[in-house]
Amino acid sequence: MPVDLRSDTVTTPTDAMRRAMADAEVGDDVYGEDPTVNALQEAFAARVGKEAALFVPSGTMGNQLALRLLAPPATAVIAGRRQHVVIYENGAGGRNAGVQFQTVDDDDGVLDPDDVAWLVEAGDNHWVRPGLVCVENTHMPANGSAWSLEALDAVKRAAGELPVHMDGARLFHAEVATGVPAADYARRATTVMCCLSKGLCAPVGSMLAGPADVMAAARDERQRLGGGMRQAGVIAAAGLVALQQMVERLADDHARAARLAEAVADRWPDAIDIEQVTTNMVIFEHANAPKLLSHLRAEGVLAGTIAPGVVRLVTHHDVDDDGVELACKAVASAP
Ligand SMILES: Cc1ncc(COP(=O)(O)O)c(C=O)c1O
Repeated sequence: MPVDLRSDTVTTPTDAMRRAMADAEVGDDVYGEDPTVNALQEAFAARVGKEAALFVPSGTMGNQLALRLLAPPATAVIAGRRQHVVIYENGAGGRNAGVQFQTVDDDDGVLDPDDVAWLVEAGDNHWVRPGLVCVENTHMPANGSAWSLEALDAVKRAAGELPVHMDGARLFHAEVATGVPAADYARRATTVMCCLSKGLCAPVGSMLAGPADVMAAARDERQRLGGGMRQAGVIAAAGLVALQQMVERLADDHARAARLAEAVADRWPDAIDIEQVTTNMVIFEHANAPKLLSHLRAEGVLAGTIAPGVVRLVTHHDVDDDGVELACKAVASAP
């Protein structure tokens, strides 16, 4: 088996998850009668300090629900230019929510509050009116960097009355890397989305959490998008195990990513600032990414690109120390 560093979405469910799935009590969740889904929603809402939460099939759907609920059609969604909701959702924001993105630089993984304030004010100067601010935590393309509460507070102040949605696909990576509880991050956003199916290893599913009235509306919107799932307790059971057992171990992924980042810096000293690798993403530019990827593949290591010439290595539960050492050797001999 190759060492698969393409994404943390390739993780497979643990034995404990498979057992929980087999034993899950289920009901029809569209009737609100699946006890395992209800337990997961309650557990997640409590974990992030929100009134309510909704289990959704994917992180993309969680983000899309937030857009549809918080940003009126024909308003601007202010977001970083490399955020998932902007560039990796197949144009869904325009199609599903009828919104227009107004993007700002997010090179360091955060939004500059002055940029946000400027776009908010531009709404009073004939620009498209803003409806929502979106942040991504951790910010995947910025080496998976986690937000500080100070940076988040500054953006929230700049957003003024506007709601804030946090794409926290890897919110618990941020919690583990910074020691900031997920609830402290979530308190600074109206809604927060988090994926169970990435580093936390559940096979399917993400959570959206927020105020009770927004989550009740999210349930209706999920149905409209065809995301009502019936005996979803079978997959929610794995989600509960993800929340209970898989968060603390993310520190191992972060340590392994740091090791990989060192190998990349040894091979190409200008390619990466190892200080910036604090979670599970190692991202760097390479003059010939296809050649690098095929070299790594020949050495038994799978990697991917997230933009032209931008290579990504992602650590996760299914890659151990031996796998990382193999990848480091493959990097050391790379073109
Ligand atoms: C930051 C971020 N947000 C959202 C998503 C979407 O999640 P999903 O693949 O479950 O739709 C991803 C997926 O990779 C992501 O990295």
